[in-house]
Amino acid sequence: MTSLPGSGSSAGVGFRARSGQGEMASHPYPVVLSCFHTGPLLQAREQGLDRAFASLDLGLTSCEVGLSAEGVILPGRGTLPWEEVEAVAGDELACFEVQDAQAIPIRCFSEELNRFYSLMPTRGAPTLLVSGIPMHRIQGTDPQRDTRAKVQTIAPLVGRVLDTCTGLGYTAIQAARTAEQVVTIELDPLVLEVARLNPWSAGLFGDARIVQVVGDAYDVVAGLEDGRFSRIVHDPPMFSLAGDLYSGAFYRELWRVLRRGGRLFHYIGDLDSRSGHGVARGVVRRLQEAGFSQVNRKPAAFGVVAYKAA
Ligand SMILES: C[S@@+](CC[C@H](N)C(=O)[O-])C[C@H]1O[C@@H](n2cnc3c(N)ncnc32)[C@H](O)[C@@H]1O
Repeated sequence: MTSLPGSGSSAGVGFRARSGQGEMASHPYPVVLSCFHTGPLLQAREQGLDRAFASLDLGLTSCEVGLSAEGVILPGRGTLPWEEVEAVAGDELACFEVQDAQAIPIRCFSEELNRFYSLMPTRGAPTLLVSGIPMHRIQGTDPQRDTRAKVQTIAPLVGRVLDTCTGLGYTAIQAARTAEQVVTIELDPLVLEVARLNPWSAGLFGDARIVQVVGDAYDVVAGLEDGRFSRIVHDPPMFSLAGDLYSGAFYRELWRVLRRGGRLFHYIGDLDSRSGHGVARGVVRRLQEAGFSQVNRKPAAFGVVAYKAA
């Protein structure tokens, strides 16, 4: 991803160069493959078939593709050689964008933040790996169920919603189903470039109700108007990656921008684990000190809900 548009702060880690925007313009929807969707193609080849059903968008839809001795014939995009298909099938940590008969891993490095990003496949929606840490729950669940569990804790999501950490945009997209407006903040533009290549994040782009802000939520929230939001989804990375977003000063700002009677969901992690239990205790105390009431643990959603008294 070294040549991603707007990725001036990134450094490639041995990835092949991507082609320019002209190519993208002729194919508005990227073909994205993962190990979960290339296995059936390799099986079909073994069976000597010349056609197979495949998903070219990480499982959202499927279509028929041709199989030749050289590779998989993608509708309107030429042939992806079998060695490329095998490379995708052998990588469980990255999804791949297909361009010019090459499968290019969707991963990159931010020199500025010293973080690796990778779009990691699951059987459903992919997650974002930040320096090896998944940004959604994937054990015993999947990123979409994880997202619904978070958002349902403060349902109905009405009025204006603040989503403090965009990531792949799943919480913003889910909130935008019912909210009047969603303001979503992402620290690293590189993450948004990863999201642009993720078919499951398509709803983040081009929905007039979703306002994207690039910046540090700690600074951005400080500039927002009092009482502007009816709901806040606070889904930060783990404490060690974003300590400021767990601070009393930040919680006071969240309280200030929430309207009276409004609700906050704060993702923490497994509340029953030793570390999660400890972090949650501090979070609950600081939320209460910041002015929030009814701060309740929501173990099934791995977080807490808090209210601003009416
Ligand atoms: C757990 S993920 C968010 C997942 C997201 N809610 C979703 O549905 O995909 C955390 C995101 O916060 C971003 N982030 C980290 N520090 C931040 C900050 N200070 N301000 C805003 N975003 C931040 C990370 O780059 C990462 O994309």
